[in-house]
Order: sequence, then structure tokens, then C-alpha cells
Amino acid sequence: MSAKLPPAQMHPATRALDAGLVPDPVTGAIAPTLVASVNNTFTPGSAGFSAEGADLTEQPFLYARWTNPTVRALEERLAGLEGAEDALATATGVAAAAAVFLTLLKAGDHLIVSEVCYAGVYELATRILPDLGIAVTPCDLTDPAAVRAALRPTTRLIHAETPCNPILRLTDLAALSHIAREAGVLLSVDSTLATPVITRPLDHGVDLVIHSLTKFMNGHGDALGGAVIGRKDLISRLRSRAGVYLGATLSAQNAWLILRGLDTLFPRLRTASDTAGQLANWLKSHPAVTRVTWPGAEDHPQRDLAQRQMALGGAMIAFQTREAPATVAARMAARFRVIHYAFSLGHQRSICVHIGTEEIQRSTFRMEGAALQRWTDWAGEGVFRLSVGLEDPADLIADLSCALE
Ligand SMILES: Cc1ncc(COP(=O)(O)O)c(C=O)c1O
Repeated sequence: MSAKLPPAQMHPATRALDAGLVPDPVTGAIAPTLVASVNNTFTPGSAGFSAEGADLTEQPFLYARWTNPTVRALEERLAGLEGAEDALATATGVAAAAAVFLTLLKAGDHLIVSEVCYAGVYELATRILPDLGIAVTPCDLTDPAAVRAALRPTTRLIHAETPCNPILRLTDLAALSHIAREAGVLLSVDSTLATPVITRPLDHGVDLVIHSLTKFMNGHGDALGGAVIGRKDLISRLRSRAGVYLGATLSAQNAWLILRGLDTLFPRLRTASDTAGQLANWLKSHPAVTRVTWPGAEDHPQRDLAQRQMALGGAMIAFQTREAPATVAARMAARFRVIHYAFSLGHQRSICVHIGTEEIQRSTFRMEGAALQRWTDWAGEGVFRLSVGLEDPADLIADLSCALE
């Protein structure tokens, strides 16, 4: 068998298919094998069975809560994609964020979290962590002075998300990692909306990349999953705490589906991003639409940063309408024939949902004063969040046209 090209020597799009891929040593099969087994046989005395320092060097597959051959194949693919030393696959994206928070933070520590990020992660940070004695400060991470002012001697971690869900505001990862490094604080970023096709956060100095694999990475809307990707020493600590003790491990079946999804990550994202650009332009020229936010647009408020940090505009669009959102949403639900009016994002099929300011402020962010003003400057009364899929752009435009009137 010829030697495989090391992931570091592959172009990024090739890594999505081939990083860590080795033909099955018994059958020679090329596609990853689904190994469902939760344990492997071993020679007594040959391996320790401690969760601490779960670095997988001796007997990685003793028991699948550590990892399993199919899950490991996914972890190696993910590490290759982000240009990282190692990765931990978790049951969901929220489990990946929880793995980071609950491993790196303890009572008395302080977390700075982006004032806008995925609602589930924001609520985990601001509602659950304080119960454990961890102080949490939501912060506008686009403002370096605000980040510096939020730092405390006990700050251990800054958690960012870019582009952030749902308003598609961007965070300058290089600038933030500079602040974090100066302060001796770790920086994690949720890169779910970007994917490694668009941004590789480790290249910008970030310590840990978090993904909901449920979204673009799998891309088919049929498996939950998450991942944390970064330095080997940090990932070993996360595996031990979150995987082994908290049991947030991914199933082999979902790992196998997500590996299959990753094969087409680059062409999916390129197509969807291209279609999103066409839709953003079309929406902008529609009289019923008052504002369109797409990171690839020339009029995105952070155009320079988008160009520095993002290879493509991405497949997410946020837009606002002249008419009351409830009326438009009702028409969408009734009239869409291709797009789905639903939650979630990053699937092969387009999905649209309205995220109302009043509702999300009541349920999640609870902003006041300047923070609320910053939110409404971007989102007004709320945004329609459109996750663009792989359909023909003309069919998507026909659907939107019908719903907007
Ligand atoms: C940016 C982002 N991060 C994390 C998550 C959570 O992912 P999961 O549903 O896999 O837990 C989501 C879900 O929508 C998300 O949009």
C-alpha cells in the first residue's frame, strides 16, 4: 500500500475527505468502517485504565466513552481540517461547549462570554455556571476596550462565536487572541457558522475551536454531534472530564454519518455560499426588505474584517422586512414550497425562521441599556435567519418572492 499524504501537506479541501483516512487493514475497504463496538480486547497489564490524562497513546479503544475507532477517525479528520494537534468529538455542539466550560473553569474562576452567541450556549454560561461558583460576564467582544475592562485576575477563559448566531456580527479573532494571550487567558471560539472552509480560528491564535457538527459539518440534518479541536494537552483534559466522567461522548453511528457528510464539506459550502450571495443581492433589491446582513456583502458593516478572516461569505443570511415579521412568517410557513420554515441550520435543504428580539431577549439575553441598543442596531425587532442549502437559487428566490409579495 502506498504511503498516505500527511494532512499538513494536503490542500484544505482534500483534508475534508482524506485527513486520517486509512484503508481498512483487513479488507482494504476505502470508505470508513462503522465500528459499533463499545470495547476492544486487550492483554491484562498492558494498559492503565485511568481517565486522567486520557491521551489515547497505549490502548485507545478499551472502552468507547474514551473514543472508538470510528469516532477516532472523525476526530483525526476534524484535527486535520482545523490544522490542529487533536480533537474531541462530543454528543452535541452544546456538549462541546459544556466540555470546554466544565473542564477549564472551576468555582472562583471567571468567564467572559460573547454577549451574542447561540442561545443554548449563552444560557449554559449565564445560568448554569454561576450555580457552580463560576462568575460570568457577557461582553461585546467586537470592542477590545470592553474586553480589557471585563478582564479580572480570576479570568480563565474568553468564549467567542463568529459569525454569531443569529445576527451575523463578526469577531476579530486575531485581535481577541492578542488580548487573551497578554492576559494569560485561554480563548475558545464557536466556529459552527464559519466551518474550516471559511475560517481556521487556530491560524488566528485561538486556543480551542468548537463546532456543532449537527450543522454544516455533517450538513444533512440527520445526526447530532459536536467537537472541540486544539492542542493535545487541552484535548486530553477535555476527553478525561467531559467524555469519560461526564459521558458526553459521540456515538459511532453518528460519527460515521458525520464523516460521510464531511467528504462534501467544501463543495457544499462553496455552492451554498455562492447561492447565499445571489439571494442576499436579490433580497436587498426587494421593496419588502429593509435590511440584509450577509458577511460576504460589500456593505456588511465589518467588511474589512470579513475579508481578512473569512474565505467566503458563508451560507447564512439575516434579513428584516417592512411588514410585521409575524405576518411574513405566517406567509412563509403557508407558502414555501422548497424552503422549510423550521429551526436549525447548515443542512443541505434551506431553512428559514424568524428570531424575534422581544422573544429572544425575554428567553435568553435579557439585555439592557447599551447592550440592548447594540443588539437592536443589528437586529431591529428581529431577523429572519435563512440557512441556504443546495437547491437551485431560482427555486429559492421564487419561494421568497411568494412569501414577501
Ligand atoms: C453556533 C451554534 N453553536 C452551537 C449550537 C448547538 O449545537 P447542537 O444543537 O449540536 O447542540 C448551535 C445550534 O444551533 C449553533 O447554532
